[in-house]
Amino acid sequence: MIPIAKPYLTKDEAQSAYDTILSGWVTQGPKVEEFEKQFCEYTGADHAVAVSNCTTALHLAMIAAGIQPGDEVICPSMSYIASSNSIKYAGGKPVFAEVNPVTYNIDPVHAETLITDKTKAILIVHQIGMPADIDAFKKISEKHNVKLIEDAACAAGSSYKGKKIGSHSELVCFSFHPRKVITTGEGGMITTSNESYYKRMKLLRQHGMSVDNRARHQSEKLIFEDHVEVGYNYRMTDIQGAIGIMQLEKLDRIIDERRKIVKRYLEELSDIDCIRLPFEADGYFSNYQSFSIYLKKNAPLSRNELMQKMLDTGIATRRGIMNAHKETAYKSEYKNTKLPMSEDSADNSIMIPLYIPMSDDDVSKVISVLRGQLKD
Ligand SMILES: Cc1ncc(COP(=O)(O)O)c(C=O)c1O
Repeated sequence: MIPIAKPYLTKDEAQSAYDTILSGWVTQGPKVEEFEKQFCEYTGADHAVAVSNCTTALHLAMIAAGIQPGDEVICPSMSYIASSNSIKYAGGKPVFAEVNPVTYNIDPVHAETLITDKTKAILIVHQIGMPADIDAFKKISEKHNVKLIEDAACAAGSSYKGKKIGSHSELVCFSFHPRKVITTGEGGMITTSNESYYKRMKLLRQHGMSVDNRARHQSEKLIFEDHVEVGYNYRMTDIQGAIGIMQLEKLDRIIDERRKIVKRYLEELSDIDCIRLPFEADGYFSNYQSFSIYLKKNAPLSRNELMQKMLDTGIATRRGIMNAHKETAYKSEYKNTKLPMSEDSADNSIMIPLYIPMSDDDVSKVISVLRGQLKD
């Protein structure tokens, strides 16, 4: 079976986790701090706060941005459900904007039309690693005085206009789930250029506690902590931090290897009329967290039939990105929401295997099965 994805983990990560376990310090500590420092160096961000996953990163970003009950936050419905859930955690209301059918990224023109007196922020999502148009959203956010938050769950290592994702705006949230390009098992990171957000998010991730465990542990004088606001336990462990340091060192190489496979897919599928392939415009650099194909109306079989045919030949696929407003948890609240582009894209797209190392033979098999099904 050719899987859809596989984390790239080696003995380096295993050794690093092993050493950390034997160090006796396993919760948030020196490895997490080092991972944060290196993540800042890699992305060019001023500050980084490691957390337990990207969903908790997004929750803290919503709090830092000041989202309160009743506030509206514009975001795409076509995203993993954690994007809109994070708005709800803070008491906000997700207001869904359309996506661009080629990049699957939130459409700035439609998003701007949704701004009301209640709009407090826009959450953009760099879908499956392809950066959204950050500058367009920065302009909108300045013009209407609303905050900008980036859901970069899938975009570690991607860049926009020559600068890495993580360095462009005040709140950028990453995921290190195994389905992402680098992983710590579970894990997340928020990068920020705002010093006061940084300090507050560091407090919030550890119960609002004014002194962290390590500082208390290392102090020669008796110190007591205070809990200055109601916080959360969103800590990353040092075992995860140690794995993250190793993964980050390999990130650019991982992306290079992924892009070699992408190049083959793009070249060897480009003559099939009934599909649309991903497109990277000038100034946009994707880590290709996933490779998605859109089936046009003239395709000889439906998306689900194609997925079944691929499964029958031993190739795993996934359907395209979901729409939150179509899920049971959101359906009744959003029963009047119509997002034709998002709905059509979700219904007719398919993700194909992409991971490293993926053998040339396996890439060839995926290409030949797709050609066999789609090329007349
Ligand atoms: C766009 C997006 N946002 C948020 C998340 C949530 O990330 P995590 O699983 O690290 O909480 C994901 C995970 O798939 C995602 O794709």
